[in-house]
Amino acid sequence: MSQTKWEIISEDILETQQKYAEKTRELLIKRYPRPLLAYVHSFGCQQNVSDGEKIMGMLYEMGYGFTDTVENADLVIYNTCAVRENAHFRVFGHVGALKPIKEQRPDMIIGLCGCMMQQSAVADKIKKSYPYVDIVFGTHAMHTLPQLLYQRLTGSKRMFSIENSDGSIVEGLPVKRIGSVKASLPIMYGCDNFCTYCVVPYVRGRERSRKPQDILCEVKKLVAEGYREITLLGQNVNSYGKGLEEEIDFSDLLSQINAVEGDFQIRFMTSHPKDCTKKLIDTIAACQKVCNHIHLPVQSGNNRVLKEMNRKYTVEDYLALIDYARKTIPGITFSSDIIVGFPGETYEEFLDTLALIKKVRYTALFTFIYSPREGTKAAKMEDPVPEEEKSKWLRQLLTEQSNIRQEMQEALIGKKLRVLAEGKGKSGDGYLTGRNVSGDIVEFSGEENLIGSFVDVQVEKALNWAVFGKLV
Ligand code: 5AD
Ligand code: SF4
Repeated sequence: MSQTKWEIISEDILETQQKYAEKTRELLIKRYPRPLLAYVHSFGCQQNVSDGEKIMGMLYEMGYGFTDTVENADLVIYNTCAVRENAHFRVFGHVGALKPIKEQRPDMIIGLCGCMMQQSAVADKIKKSYPYVDIVFGTHAMHTLPQLLYQRLTGSKRMFSIENSDGSIVEGLPVKRIGSVKASLPIMYGCDNFCTYCVVPYVRGRERSRKPQDILCEVKKLVAEGYREITLLGQNVNSYGKGLEEEIDFSDLLSQINAVEGDFQIRFMTSHPKDCTKKLIDTIAACQKVCNHIHLPVQSGNNRVLKEMNRKYTVEDYLALIDYARKTIPGITFSSDIIVGFPGETYEEFLDTLALIKKVRYTALFTFIYSPREGTKAAKMEDPVPEEEKSKWLRQLLTEQSNIRQEMQEALIGKKLRVLAEGKGKSGDGYLTGRNVSGDIVEFSGEENLIGSFVDVQVEKALNWAVFGKLV
């Protein structure tokens, strides 16, 4: 019996799924003369991409290979994102485009999963208007994919598994990772913060942390497999440990992961400013393997807007934190998420955000025009500013950020950067690409056998999207 506040999916349930996976594999071998191909596409955040790797892991166990095009696929899965409206519409566009393919190849299986499927209105729309979709499952039912697929393949019914719940923890699902140098590793799931604009707490359930032993075991495995960068994932990693049997917080976990032997670096996201403590910053300073970079989404530079967003910090709190981090960790850099045009935000309030980004000077900004999400508090707020006006504000923000970034990139000229070589460069043959600790893209000439190693690069030139240099 687990003593955590949340359910841990039992080995029995996973064994049942394992059996379904084996039965599906046998069925496919009997039914089709050739190995089948799956196309899996994840929209949205890194957590969703990480779920996509587990979906691929389960499919691989059922005998599927993988393809990059829906035209070649025997099974298509869209792992959806509900955070903003445009991702929502894109999914419906993609699903609509599958209709003629399915008409030509009725054997093709179409599956939809992820955050959007936890919204009952979406699931209803798919039931009614997209009869050619075979399987629909929400974030809480991901581990039951083998059963859903088997039942669909052996019966006539379409399968829907979209119950709402606080969520559970599933350990031990197979994973088919997309890369071989960088890996992401969820340390917790769900979110309890209820920022007023955000749908995540409604679709991903309550906060729940994985046990440190399970996380450490996975880190050691990844390091042994040769991964050089591990990104710890959670909607708010700073809440890690709450509700676990043992006393442990995110800083403690970072120290334990840092102590794992091997040549690798650690990143994490996302860090909520309200829970980012001095202890965490001191820990980053003390842990050699943790990159000196924090993704610390501020969302707005105006205190009234932050209050309306239910972010639970002020601009002054945020800047004090940045100050402390800069004093404690020389050279530390930051990136952030910004929402432009929150309901009721005025142009003057937006200018406070602009002032804040000039003060902090982020290496990267992820900027979004506010998008109303059904069921959230903000969706009911008055939102008088027209979309075109918000787009203008966004352009102003992007221009400012682009200038800041250009200056920051140019300041790197002449510097020696430690870079993880990740793959072939965009500049042509003989070039490699990688990132430094701040996450800046670095292009340099080098042999392909360097991919997957840390190298030192002397920066010679800076463009807005990358810096260029030579190996030292
Ligand atoms: N509208 C616009 N942006 C949003 N985000 C979350 N919800 C919304 C929304 N309704 C942004 C936030 C968050 C990032 C992952 O997505 O900036 O940090
Ligand atoms: Fe959404 Fe806020 Fe939770 Fe982030 S912290 S997932 S923005 S509710």
